Amino acid sequence: MTPFDPLLEEVSSRFGLTPRSNWDQEVDQAARILAARFDCEPLDLVARAEEDPRIIDVLVGHLTVGESYFFRHGQHFEALERHLEAWSLEPGDRPFRVLSLGCATGEEAYSVAITARKTLGARQAGRVEILGCDLSNASVEKADHAAYADWSFRGVDPALRESHFEAEGETWRLNEDVRSLATFSVSSIRDFTARLPSGSVDAVFFRNVAIYLTAETTRAIYAEIARVQRDAGLLFVAPADPRPAEALARVDGEGHGVYRKDESVETYPDHALGLPMERVGDRPAPDFEAEAARPVQIRETAPVIVRPEPAPPGEELLSKLQLHGDRGETREALRIADELIEASPSCPSGHLLRARLRIAAGEEAESLPDLRKVAFLDPGHCVGRYWYVVALAHSGQEAKADRQLGVLEEQLRELPENEPLEDGEVTAGELLRAVEELAGSRR
Ligand SMILES: C[S@@+](CC[C@H](N)C(=O)[O-])C[C@H]1O[C@@H](n2cnc3c(N)ncnc32)[C@H](O)[C@@H]1O
Repeated sequence: MTPFDPLLEEVSSRFGLTPRSNWDQEVDQAARILAARFDCEPLDLVARAEEDPRIIDVLVGHLTVGESYFFRHGQHFEALERHLEAWSLEPGDRPFRVLSLGCATGEEAYSVAITARKTLGARQAGRVEILGCDLSNASVEKADHAAYADWSFRGVDPALRESHFEAEGETWRLNEDVRSLATFSVSSIRDFTARLPSGSVDAVFFRNVAIYLTAETTRAIYAEIARVQRDAGLLFVAPADPRPAEALARVDGEGHGVYRKDESVETYPDHALGLPMERVGDRPAPDFEAEAARPVQIRETAPVIVRPEPAPPGEELLSKLQLHGDRGETREALRIADELIEASPSCPSGHLLRARLRIAAGEEAESLPDLRKVAFLDPGHCVGRYWYVVALAHSGQEAKADRQLGVLEEQLRELPENEPLEDGEVTAGELLRAVEELAGSRR
């Protein structure tokens, strides 16, 4: 027993981590660092954590093991290479999407990027999109910067380092052309995958992470992986990881720990958090001639929901905004959203669109002022309130997220089941079910 047990229990239950024997020792050390940062006594952290979710978020980074290195379990990258070659021969220009779940400091994601660059050349590799997530803020910052000490290159051919990295002090920094293929988020795996549309991912690296998780969390993550994978998509797990059970079948002849979706098993319905984004993501891309064939993308490109307003503020601007949003050209889309809001400051749609773009770019906290504005301008705007809940939860404002979720649940219960909501995509009944599931998972 230590006075920090409530913090450890919170970390374990919130993120599905199995408590480890060294946590008592680690938490003492982390508490000293946290106390200095939050300007309080270490023992005050327990009470403060109830008010300030950042404390648990920082603590979890101290308690997880962020060990990684380049081309770990090398056979997986050989299998990936074959998969990339097959994709490069497919007609069309859909992107090849890879996830690094529990990416730590980024070596895994960048090994994928280097493999893509080597296998496909610069032009085609530009269509490979690698998304990494990790609970640890410090690890994700390092991943973003992409500078590594020798230890991260153990077992790697020095020629490979020479060709893709530049010396930076005592470290080696990955060149921009490869670095730019990967983006990273501070997020739990479950929150991260929940935002991805079904059937949108070509390869998932979920290695050396499940060993730290409870069986229940691991099962839920495998279920999510099966949902987001394309039919022929691959999953890579490490030798010490628990094997995926249902819906993912071992692939013979690709080496150890390679799985793919088992098509004979029914997979997963919409995830609560993913519902509205996923519905929109699954619909055909808008019909803008050359753009019509472009696949709809996730996160950066999360398509924007346009609410039909009685007096639409600049149809042309809205169409342009949607086009840029769907293409993932977030900066340009944001510029147009600013224009739209300036022209019609009291139109909730403009604020919601700008917020959705920010959420899609991983800037949940920055989306909050717009979402508050939507709630102020139109308190009955259910889709707006839904995104407010999502952004609050992702910004760590759990208590507020729960309050807003309660309000939304009540509002939705008042509406007829088949009432179409503001985005014209989701009905009140559908959103209510998603909200109930979400509320259940947060209890
Ligand atoms: C040992 S590292 C593995 C890194 C990399 N996948 C590899 O195999 O080299 C485990 C990482 O998983 C992260 N992690 C653990 N549980 C997580 C969760 N629920 N969501 C996101 N990241 C998690 C930890 O923070 C840590 O950085």
